[in-house]
Amino acid sequence: MRPIIVKGQRVSLAVPLREDVHLIWKWYNDRAVRKYLTKPHEVFFYEDEMEWYEAIRREKSREKVFAIIKNDSKTLLGLIGLHSIDFHSRNAELGYFLGPEHWGKGYATEAVSLAITYAFDWLNLRKLYARVFGSNLASIRVLEKNGFELVGRLKKHQYVPGEGFVDVLIYELLRGE
Ligand SMILES: CC(C)(COP(=O)(O)OP(=O)(O)OC[C@H]1O[C@@H](n2cnc3c(N)ncnc32)[C@H](O)[C@@H]1OP(=O)(O)O)[C@@H](O)C(=O)NCCC(=O)NCCS
Repeated sequence: MRPIIVKGQRVSLAVPLREDVHLIWKWYNDRAVRKYLTKPHEVFFYEDEMEWYEAIRREKSREKVFAIIKNDSKTLLGLIGLHSIDFHSRNAELGYFLGPEHWGKGYATEAVSLAITYAFDWLNLRKLYARVFGSNLASIRVLEKNGFELVGRLKKHQYVPGEGFVDVLIYELLRGE
């Protein structure tokens, strides 16, 4: 059984395993997921994913990536990560996605709250931020439900296939707010 790092009510954050990579590879190439992540156009080879897995394993001081696991079935639901961790300024960028078959059940909202706990209580960070496309209403809602505040907007900054140029919104959450 994989180690759980932060346990929640319905989902937990756990250590990603090598055998997760196949499903992650499938989701990374799914256009419904990819559309709202960096490089929406990109095509990923399985070997890219294995390299990514090795990179996150090696870059543990700058990146903390967790598997989001359903507590009852232990199913892998998606990934959530703290990226570009800066221990001098004590901030990090939050990113996440779920497999489309798991959307709309409140899992991302709980996973984000667990990642916040990890960032503030275990890493002793003071600020998290996230960049989200203006048309990604589900993700905006997830951030706002977790107390993130809109602090910036890059206008018509990102080209999203099928949507054209969309704003990139910058959200942040300060510890203790
Ligand atoms: C964004 C994402 C993680 C949300 O996951 P999820 O588990 O479905 O999210 P939750 O169920 O916890 O919450 C979604 C909220 O958005 C709302 N929502 C969903 N679609 C919406 C829409 N089109 N318009 C307005 N609100 C919407 C839901 O009703 C819910 O709010 P509620 O609890 O107040 O009803 C998931 O859709 C995903 O992986 N998307 C692709 C990758 C991505 O966008 N990652 C984030 C990049 S910043």
